Amino acid sequence: MKEVVFSGVAPSGNIHIGNYLGAIEQWVELQSSNKYQNIFCIVDEHAITVPQNPEKLREKIREVTLLYLALGIDPKKSTIFIQSHVSEHAELAWLLNTVTPLGDLQRMTQFKDKAKKQKSILAGLFNYPVLMAADILLYQTSVVPVGEDQVQHVELTREIAKKFNNLYGEVFRIPNVALKKETKRIMGLDDPTKKMSKSAENPANYIALLDAPDVIRKKIKSAVTDSGTEIKYDLENKPAISNLLTIYGGFAKKPINEIEKIYQGKGYAEFKKDLAEIIVTELAPLQVKYKGLEKNPRKVKKILKDGAKAAKKIASQTLKAAKNAMGL
Ligand code: AMP
Ligand code: TRP
Repeated sequence: MKEVVFSGVAPSGNIHIGNYLGAIEQWVELQSSNKYQNIFCIVDEHAITVPQNPEKLREKIREVTLLYLALGIDPKKSTIFIQSHVSEHAELAWLLNTVTPLGDLQRMTQFKDKAKKQKSILAGLFNYPVLMAADILLYQTSVVPVGEDQVQHVELTREIAKKFNNLYGEVFRIPNVALKKETKRIMGLDDPTKKMSKSAENPANYIALLDAPDVIRKKIKSAVTDSGTEIKYDLENKPAISNLLTIYGGFAKKPINEIEKIYQGKGYAEFKKDLAEIIVTELAPLQVKYKGLEKNPRKVKKILKDGAKAAKKIASQTLKAAKNAMGL
């Protein structure tokens, strides 16, 4: 049996180049290694932990599905499904809630950050990491490819699994996180001290994967820079240029020191102009593929139906084992 890779993105906000460089690009690489059983989920039940408009949510679920496919997640090699189509996720989350200490959830930094932005903090937002643990553990996952901000959640998942196994017997496999060293944390274009975020109020914070070429050019042009003129990777003194160098390296597949050499003696404007063209060129095939998929909703529906069926087959076995172990 192949080891399992599992990951997901919530269908909220605009999927951006940070999501791609930090997480989804890893999925495509792991998929093409042919070493794993790959399972990728559209985590709609995570999206509703903050208020959503039903019509917009439906549209976002569709968008994220098409993006997975357009980015190269291949339904022949990977299972693609929507979380709410497999009811085992919510059910296992409930069981795991009964072994998760309140204090562990209270120290989750993502919860603290998101809670600050909400008028009313919902119980679902607080329990979000438990649902994420259920996602991962249902498939006896070995590898969870994500961006750096999710490391704390995967660590909590490990703790929950260990605790459950200690109390009730070995039901869950203990998963490991996989990070992409260079691009695990892409920062905002408008503020290099905060991560690029799809829930950012200012769209100049991110480049969405579906942004039109002229929008990309404009956003890179207006991205904040640091004082001085040198194109140099220096996180402490040049956080903005360092972030742009990371993005450049991620898309051009070049080490940062090589890029620094190319721009020796050149200014920010030239560097930014080239960077914008690289991003436009790299995203163009994805955008063409996306438009093609939009014309084929039947095919996409079938992929999701098959995906949910395949996922449910595994998930139901694990859920059964967990319930049985608990005496339910
Ligand atoms: P989210 O946008 O929170 O749904 O994240 C989806 C995936 O993208 C997760 O694996 C995140 O860790 C990753 N991710 C989100 N934002 C960034 C970022 N700014 N840099 C790198 N990875 C990110
Ligand atoms: N919490 C993740 C995020 O915001 C999304 C997610 C939900 C996830 N369940 C998961 C990622 C399971 C990996 C594995 O990005």
